Amino acid sequence: MNHNNKLLFIKNLTKIFSAGSFLFKSNIVAVNNVSLELNAQRAEIFTLAGESGSGKTTLARIILGLVRPTSGTILYKGRDITQIKSAKDWKWFTREVQPISQNPFDTFSPLNKVETYLYDTAINYNIVTNKSEVYNILDEKLKAVGLSWDEVRGKYPNEFSGGQLQRLSIARAIITNPSLIVADEPVSMIDASLRMSIVNLFKNLKEQFNVSVIYITHDLATAYYISDRIAIMLRGSIVESGPVEKVLNAPLHPYTKLLKQSIPEPTIDVQWEEEIQLSVTEIKEFTASGCKFAARCPYVMETCKTKEPEETFVDERAVRCYLYK
Ligand SMILES: Nc1ncnc2c1ncn2[C@@H]1O[C@H](COP(=O)(O)OP(=O)(O)OP(=O)(O)O)[C@@H](O)[C@H]1O
Ligand SMILES: [Mg+2]
Repeated sequence: MNHNNKLLFIKNLTKIFSAGSFLFKSNIVAVNNVSLELNAQRAEIFTLAGESGSGKTTLARIILGLVRPTSGTILYKGRDITQIKSAKDWKWFTREVQPISQNPFDTFSPLNKVETYLYDTAINYNIVTNKSEVYNILDEKLKAVGLSWDEVRGKYPNEFSGGQLQRLSIARAIITNPSLIVADEPVSMIDASLRMSIVNLFKNLKEQFNVSVIYITHDLATAYYISDRIAIMLRGSIVESGPVEKVLNAPLHPYTKLLKQSIPEPTIDVQWEEEIQLSVTEIKEFTASGCKFAARCPYVMETCKTKEPEETFVDERAVRCYLYK
């Protein structure tokens, strides 16, 4: 098979964690048999949305090469990223695929001037051959996010607002000329009134630099405005995916319908630990043998409880629901 024409090719990807207490030990399928593809020719914004604990961050970390999948295939530009071993190849991959995290302080330590990170990124990835060139490049990238070198030089992170800092993390990410940005809840810590202007940057970058974006969010409103496609995740599975207008204007899966009505505010990401305590309901949903939504679904049928539905293609979308069989 030739997947070189795909930017990202993910097939039947699964990640299993073990979780629970001593008394109630259980395997959590954080990512369950997920398949998705991004085209290499045309950049796009692909949103992953779903409730807390649906596996969005785990999937993002697999795509960034930070978590090893339990099974399945993940190719970036045709290369199996789980097989990257040399420092040279890792450098290539980390230049191509850049992360943006929820908290800009993951990128910028309060102790260092912001420019240090921008400068080091340009130098470490050999973006410039000659050191005097570096400031032109930084100014160009800063202007792409609505800032400039003059506004940034000499300043520490505490001299910027949260929104400006998130713009700075985006500027840092595009210094390496990546083909893919993975942004995990990039605006959930930003004041609600500023979110849209920052999220819009992704759309501009896609057009200006032909960079694709995997945008992870709880916020369907921002997703609607900037995404080309969206995938709805529930307990590790993508239950519905397709063009954003289709999925959000006329959702097919009962879970997408529910999500449209009420979506809880994101929880602030805690540091990852080996063991995470889950509620009994969560464990029940994760380990249910049928559709993970069966216990909450108003249209539940007997089959839903026994076997997870296969993907069905309806009206430009892939949906996992027996209502569409
Ligand atoms: N290191 C780990 N060990 C055990 N379980 C984990 C680990 N990391 C994540 N999980 C579990 O995997 C499931 C998916 O978590 P993940 O963080 O990917 O969800 P999410 O969709 O990003 O949630 P949120 O919206 O809250 O950020 C959760 O039940 C979580 O508790
Ligand atoms: Mg998350």
